[in-house]
Amino acid sequence: MKIVLFGKNGQLGRELHRELAPLGEVVAVGHQELDLQDLVAMEAFIRLHKPQVIINASAYTAVDRAEQEQELAFQVNSHAPGLMAELARELNSVFIHFSTDYVFDGTLGMPYVETDIPNPLNVYGMSKLAGEQVIQKVGGVYLILRTSWVYSLDSDSFVTRVLEWARENLELRVVADQIGNPTWACVLAELTSKILTHGHGFISKNKGVYHVAGDGFASRYAWAKEILKLDPKAYEQVTKELLPVTTTEFPTPARRPFFSALNCAKFKSTFDLELPDWKRALRLAMVEVS
Ligand SMILES: NC(=O)c1ccc[n+]([C@@H]2O[C@H](COP(=O)([O-])OP(=O)(O)OC[C@H]3O[C@@H](n4cnc5c(N)ncnc54)[C@H](OP(=O)(O)O)[C@@H]3O)[C@@H](O)[C@H]2O)c1
Repeated sequence: MKIVLFGKNGQLGRELHRELAPLGEVVAVGHQELDLQDLVAMEAFIRLHKPQVIINASAYTAVDRAEQEQELAFQVNSHAPGLMAELARELNSVFIHFSTDYVFDGTLGMPYVETDIPNPLNVYGMSKLAGEQVIQKVGGVYLILRTSWVYSLDSDSFVTRVLEWARENLELRVVADQIGNPTWACVLAELTSKILTHGHGFISKNKGVYHVAGDGFASRYAWAKEILKLDPKAYEQVTKELLPVTTTEFPTPARRPFFSALNCAKFKSTFDLELPDWKRALRLAMVEVS
């Protein structure tokens, strides 16, 4: 199997690069080699390799900056994936794309299922939703995997930032009114690779949108608390107090949904795969880097 992977240096892309290797030939490309604003170069790259599978782990993910860089966000999160989908359809390849819980406004009050109506609150969410819509319009053999609060321990992420802050500040303030599913990039990559083992026919029959994230949900505050607890080098922490605060106390350029947890039942039953509990995954992630 020949797989083209976009976004090889991102949190998820790095893990995918490792996970996909046993499945066949992986041609992985990052921002430095190929800027997705250059659709001509992107098309030439896909045509050159003629992969059986295209995986797009690249994205414009700077949620706050996107408010000022709308055009760029749409270019990377919508126009480029749209063309990937067209080329995948032409080549009869499987196309796997990732999207976000931020397509929702967070007002439902319970974990979102795939059929809930999106209503993004910020430019990033709008650009990701536009990407989903263009892929669905193109059709072909595609999977859109919506995930949430992705972290890895070897890139800049919420987890690595909390660990850093805990070594510098006596007091930490973390928002307690934003709720989502912390998702370890490593788990998401592993699940993506397992999906591919189901084969083209199965994926074709089950194409569509799926929610795939860490099992269970938490506030950012509860997540931070667990990070501090599981820190293998907790003796280096100087933080004495972790305080829950509200989003209004921490204004950011982009609005964020309050409760954007995802219900992943459809994914689990369709692909017969388990999603590890977010706390268990975090424990494993911490052990791996200690
Ligand atoms: N991170 C989260 O909390 C989260 C939550 C929900 C959904 N998701 C989705 O999950 C997927 C993976 O996210 P992630 O956390 O792995 O993101 P990430 O770490 O930010 O990685 C994204 C990658 O895309 C690359 N990229 C950005 N602009 C590009 C361009 N113009 N041309 C080529 N490459 C470009 C980035 O390169 P540079 O860094 O060099 O720009 C980076 O390597 C994305 O679809 C994201 O929307 C993420």
